Amino acid sequence: MKKRLALDIKQELSKNILKIKTDVLVLGVHEGKVLNTSAKEIDNATNGIIKKLAKRGEFEAKIGQTAYVATNDGTSSDRIFLVGFGKASKSLNNENLDKLSLAITGCLTSKKSSSGVVNIPSIRYDSKDLSDSSFLQKLGTSIEEKVYTYDAKLNKKNKKTNSLKKVSFTIDSGESLVKLRKGLRTGQAIGQGMNVAKDLANLPGNICTPSYLASTSKSAANKYSNLSCRIYGEKEMKKMGMDCLLSVGNGSAQESKLISMNYQGGKKGAKPYAIVGKGITFDTGGISLKPPATMDEMKFDMCGAASVIGTMQVIAELKLPINLIGVVASAENMPGSKATKPGDVVKTMSGQTVEILNTDAEGRLVLADALTYVERFKPVSVVDIATLTGAVIMALGYSTSGLMSNNEKLAKELLDAGDKASDRAWQLPIWDSYQKDLDSNFADIANIGGRAGTITAACFLSRFAENYPWAHLDVAGTASYKGAAKGGSGRPVPLLSQYLIDKA
Ligand code: BES
Ligand code: MN
Ligand code: ZN
Repeated sequence: MKKRLALDIKQELSKNILKIKTDVLVLGVHEGKVLNTSAKEIDNATNGIIKKLAKRGEFEAKIGQTAYVATNDGTSSDRIFLVGFGKASKSLNNENLDKLSLAITGCLTSKKSSSGVVNIPSIRYDSKDLSDSSFLQKLGTSIEEKVYTYDAKLNKKNKKTNSLKKVSFTIDSGESLVKLRKGLRTGQAIGQGMNVAKDLANLPGNICTPSYLASTSKSAANKYSNLSCRIYGEKEMKKMGMDCLLSVGNGSAQESKLISMNYQGGKKGAKPYAIVGKGITFDTGGISLKPPATMDEMKFDMCGAASVIGTMQVIAELKLPINLIGVVASAENMPGSKATKPGDVVKTMSGQTVEILNTDAEGRLVLADALTYVERFKPVSVVDIATLTGAVIMALGYSTSGLMSNNEKLAKELLDAGDKASDRAWQLPIWDSYQKDLDSNFADIANIGGRAGTITAACFLSRFAENYPWAHLDVAGTASYKGAAKGGSGRPVPLLSQYLIDKA
């Protein structure tokens, strides 16, 4: 996993802030007349700029407000930004911290600075889940993630360079340096994992094929002694009875792959957690062909897989004391003379037969067999991640993932992890009343049915996840950005990582 930044921390506000040599000094300032020592020193050296800006109403130090200080002659840093932390007496919530971490990250990266120092004043928190170390976790993630660029396929002269290389934090905190550093390090690892997922998402379908995902997973596993990776090709899958998964790649020249990663950080024999990703490296819809307008975005149909590959590395990097299985079900969904046709019936590894009414509802077909496959590990819980339905965007938009589960405790844990990591999900029901929408006259179950597209897709998956606590994340709206910022988002790596961190 590529670390883009050197991050460091000190557990006190800088002494001699005027002497700090850095490209950019980001100074956290509380709202109100009383400045803390560092702010006072800067104010004195700059002819009272902080007080002046406040008086002119240009910078009142409201939460997340920023100001660029051009007059920095009395200091050794090349430039100074002020970031408002609100009233010192106010307790900050999770949203406040997100705002602050975004503001600080913006200051560090908005000019061509290569080194930065961030001065964080003492903060009160409004919940026991929040602390200086959790704030540093957010900062670690947002900075690492912000310096990400994708230019793998650009000509040299078009390559974007990122100047920021090094940031050190000073924080007025009662927590131990060990804890603070751990928070920062955890956050950075999550950011790196998101960047792994973004890279895989952004690569085009002609490069990022099922075989590419397989070899990438293999080489990632080679970097960690307790992470291994096994690849099953079409022949091996056929032997295991995975006709349902295989039916999706029938029209493609690319070989379908099942990737099975195994991280052994916990006790030998301790039951593992499992994450399972949809890895459709391109989804044309197959014979139920999609319209052309935004079909290019279907290269993002492997984002569930990318989040699994990213999260495995976050957990390995953090050396979490758990066991974790990561499975990727990968195929390319193409039309062709050998492609699956509407009405075709296939047998799943579980023994249930499926009538494929729409070949564009392919994600559930590859996941069905992958969900049966993970049973062999006797997992504590299984979370599958998939860009499964357009309907989840109608329901929740682009900011919130859909969550469905057969286990309320697991659902709650995942929702909480998403809240904490600012990678939120919202639960939809999968009550029995929806299951009959999948009735078929010609097989045990149909692959589409009813009007509640996101829910019936999850109902389909639930038929293959009966033997363990299971949850499904529909990330069709959240795993990639549209429009000018088109590209992978790295989600839901933060949610998954946080869930596993909290479990460990
Ligand atoms: N990969 C798509 C879902 C999708 C749509 C992801 C838009 C991201 C953006 C999935 O395979 C699909 O085609 N789903 C169909 C299901 C339908 C045929 C029941 C859909 O959502 O239209
Ligand atoms: Mn599809
Ligand atoms: Zn798809």
